[in-house]
Amino acid sequence: ASMVEDDASLDPFALVADELDLLANRMRSMVRAEVPKLATAAEYFFRLGAEGKRFRPTVLLLMASSLSSVEPFACPGTSCTGRDLSALGTSSSSMPSSPSSPPWSSSSSLSSLSSDSSSSPIADERRSRQQRLAEITEMIHVASLLHDDVLDHASTRRGVGSLNYVMGNKLAVLAGDFLLARASSALASLRNVEVIELLSQVLEHLVTGETMQMTADSRECSSMDNYMKKTFFKTASLIANSCKAIAILGEQPAPVAALAYEYGRHLGLAFQVVDDVLDFTGSSMTLGKPALNDLSQGIATAPVLFAAEEFTGMYDLIWRKFKREGDVEQALKWVQQSNGIERAKQLALQHSLAAIAALEQLPQSDVEHVLISRRALSMLARHVLTRSK
Ligand code: FPP
Ligand code: FPP
Ligand code: MG
Ligand code: MG
Repeated sequence: ASMVEDDASLDPFALVADELDLLANRMRSMVRAEVPKLATAAEYFFRLGAEGKRFRPTVLLLMASSLSSVEPFACPGTSCTGRDLSALGTSSSSMPSSPSSPPWSSSSSLSSLSSDSSSSPIADERRSRQQRLAEITEMIHVASLLHDDVLDHASTRRGVGSLNYVMGNKLAVLAGDFLLARASSALASLRNVEVIELLSQVLEHLVTGETMQMTADSRECSSMDNYMKKTFFKTASLIANSCKAIAILGEQPAPVAALAYEYGRHLGLAFQVVDDVLDFTGSSMTLGKPALNDLSQGIATAPVLFAAEEFTGMYDLIWRKFKREGDVEQALKWVQQSNGIERAKQLALQHSLAAIAALEQLPQSDVEHVLISRRALSMLARHVLTRSK
């Protein structure tokens, strides 16, 4: 792998594929329960083949690598001078001789001494704590999906029957709680109060976002501002705060942690807005879930809110949650006749660019695996815009 290779030959998912398998195995052991029914329910989405896209752990591992050997950071205008990383053997002067196989890609047990000069027990320990965080994030995500499918009366998830559909609402709720419990104790074992606070706040945000969506009054459900707020809570907060936690576990200074957070926040927002566009433009075939799902659930997303600015008759439909006969069809017609889709795509593009801009503000590095990881994160931010499922 060379620094000048083009993006076409760079696959963000392939960069972390081996490490993701490691995480998947650990998660399977983390969700093991004593009671048989609970065991079946809790492991349901951690089984081989039911794991989903694993977007969050992919982003988090790449973020960890993107920050793994930054130059000592000098914050402009403050007394913060950064830390000397050379003691950890991760400064650029002790660059890995074989950058295509970074230190953590080998079986990275703490005792295995790699010939790689950048590997050290401290760096390995840090990496493994970041891996734990990625597992915790994915477990929180899955817990929220279990509860979400109960709330949405969903019957499918990840191409299989949703857990509520297969085992009933009660077990699905309990399995979600169980995953949160296991995630909480894993979080505590990281022994980092700031990280515990960040992830606890995410749980609050998920519940807040979901409740905002469920209880929005007519003013709220037609407000773009409210939509973006809800979207942050429901989708972006988890990845934003987890990116920040990765930086903190990487012992990065606050300004770097803030950039990691900004990357995650903008990525999450771009993702959700694209998701909302796909609800109109995608087919249920490629999406793996019914198209026009949001409208039929009474939810007005970005394309609708933009369309309403041109076709103000839309507001009546939004206010009555598209309940009346023909409302969904009329809303769809207005969305298609307006610039709603186009403007929503523009909005997603702005967030995608802002995510990339955050990456570009990270402290300069000439370490190859750092540069490759940052390019992969940048690709993910662009990939969001062109995805079809
Ligand atoms: C998917 O949304 C759901 C979420 C992003 C979060 C759901 C959060 C809760 C149910 C609150 C409970 C939280 C925890 C931590 C247990 P969607 O329904 O729009 O998307 P979908 O098409 O994937 O179902
Ligand atoms: C389920 O997550 C769907 C949502 C929470 C709404 C839309 C969000 C995304 C499409 C992903 C956002 C992720 C990042 C990292 C910005 P999912 O589609 O990731 O579900 P999966 O785990 O089953 O693949
Ligand atoms: Mg849902
Ligand atoms: Mg939902």
